[in-house]
Amino acid sequence: MRAETLASVVLAALVLPVSALPQTTRSSSGKAIYIITNDAKNAVVAVRIGRDGQLSRGTTTETGGAGGSGVDSATNQTAAPDSLFSQSSLTNIFAVNPGSNTVSMLSIDPRDPTKLSLVGTPATLPGEFPVTVAASVKNRLVCVGMTGAKAGVSCASFSANGLGAMDGLRTFDLGQTTPPAGPLNTVSQVLFSSDESVLFATVKGDPTVNNTGFLAAFPINKACSGKGASLAQQGTKSSPNGTAVLFGSSIIPGSSNLFVTDASFGGAVLAIDGQDVASTVGKGVIDGQGATCWATVSPATNTAFVSDVAVNRLVQMSLTDATPLGQIDLSSNGDPGLIDLRAAGNFVYALSPGNGTTSPAVTVVDAIGARQVQHFQLQGLGVSKSAMGMAVLV
Ligand SMILES: *[C@@H]1O[C@H](CO)[C@@H](O)[C@H](O)[C@H]1NC(C)=O
Ligand SMILES: *[C@@H]1O[C@H](CO)[C@@H](O)[C@H](O)[C@H]1NC(C)=O
Ligand SMILES: *[C@@H]1O[C@H](CO)[C@@H](O)[C@H](O)[C@H]1NC(C)=O
Ligand SMILES: *[C@@H]1O[C@H](CO)[C@@H](O)[C@H](O)[C@H]1NC(C)=O
Repeated sequence: MRAETLASVVLAALVLPVSALPQTTRSSSGKAIYIITNDAKNAVVAVRIGRDGQLSRGTTTETGGAGGSGVDSATNQTAAPDSLFSQSSLTNIFAVNPGSNTVSMLSIDPRDPTKLSLVGTPATLPGEFPVTVAASVKNRLVCVGMTGAKAGVSCASFSANGLGAMDGLRTFDLGQTTPPAGPLNTVSQVLFSSDESVLFATVKGDPTVNNTGFLAAFPINKACSGKGASLAQQGTKSSPNGTAVLFGSSIIPGSSNLFVTDASFGGAVLAIDGQDVASTVGKGVIDGQGATCWATVSPATNTAFVSDVAVNRLVQMSLTDATPLGQIDLSSNGDPGLIDLRAAGNFVYALSPGNGTTSPAVTVVDAIGARQVQHFQLQGLGVSKSAMGMAVLV
């Protein structure tokens, strides 16, 4: 009898989770999400993801640098939410310090993904107001995008011991100030291509002054004879037809195409040719949008999810041609809108830093069921409306 009970318990444990999961599940679920507070004493907030995809418990670890916020050019006020006008202000696990022009490296305890430690000291950048960071494990290279009075891209090697020295700035002539006035005319994001052979940077134009945004692409010089990989000094710039305010991007898995948002209309799929020049494959205009700025690709649905700082919903779009496929209305949770987001497993994690009246929270959405499953409050972790970024450990 005892053995029988035990056997049925074991059987239930084996059978239940499998049958409870949607058929399409193949991708692994996340272990933790990470956000920067971007406050004067900048810190990374880590929150655990449970087996059910939901968030619980969190930690706050200082980066050793200072946060900083841009100025909203429409109001002349400190920008928030969307304090940095960027996507990817941290990536596993490097974090920008916009107020002290440095980038920090943190390590994750293998037994506890919310236990972080600062590795070495933050590396000093050759430009001003860093807002986005990308890391290539294959090339042991971390690259940072800056958008202040000295704007551009700089990279450094990294190892388990920390960051090397940042190399010379590849400049973008934006005529910006420090802190920058935005969101128009600022660097949006840096990210590596799926084979990690090219670094892309999206830069927003300003249609009001006939300033066209662009995608910059810098090839990687591979590591050879004891010399580490580096980023080429010269890149190419292209302005894909019909785009103006390129913002958050995501690599489309299994392809060399990019999914990008454009804050002026919605989203687009870009093809990248052998010379790293981008062209528009498809454009999706989102009805009723305020500013569509952040994008992630869900492995569960093989679609993009995009967010809007001014409209509290997620819009799902095609990875083939950016056609809008549907929307998940989240307005009943009271947030003003959403910024950085990341997909992992069957879920999408989207940050709403709040606006000072509403409190900061992460909305967890079931990508397949297209519905909110959790609205996780962050104010207990020292997060305020300046928070940015979303990284996920899978
Ligand atoms: C913002 O400040 C600048 C310089 O101080 C000024 O020229 C501009 O008119 C201000 N704009 C608004 C919307 O207040
Ligand atoms: C905008 O810039 C383009 C290309 O530089 C130029 O051909 C066009 O005349 C400009 N338009 C205005 C209104 O200044
Ligand atoms: C750009 O797009 C417009 C319509 O959206 C089209 O008429 C034009 O031919 C395109 N230009 C190029 C160079 O593809
Ligand atoms: C913050 O967002 C809430 C919900 O959209 C809105 O009711 C409130 O007016 C906003 N407050 C500010 C200061 O913008």
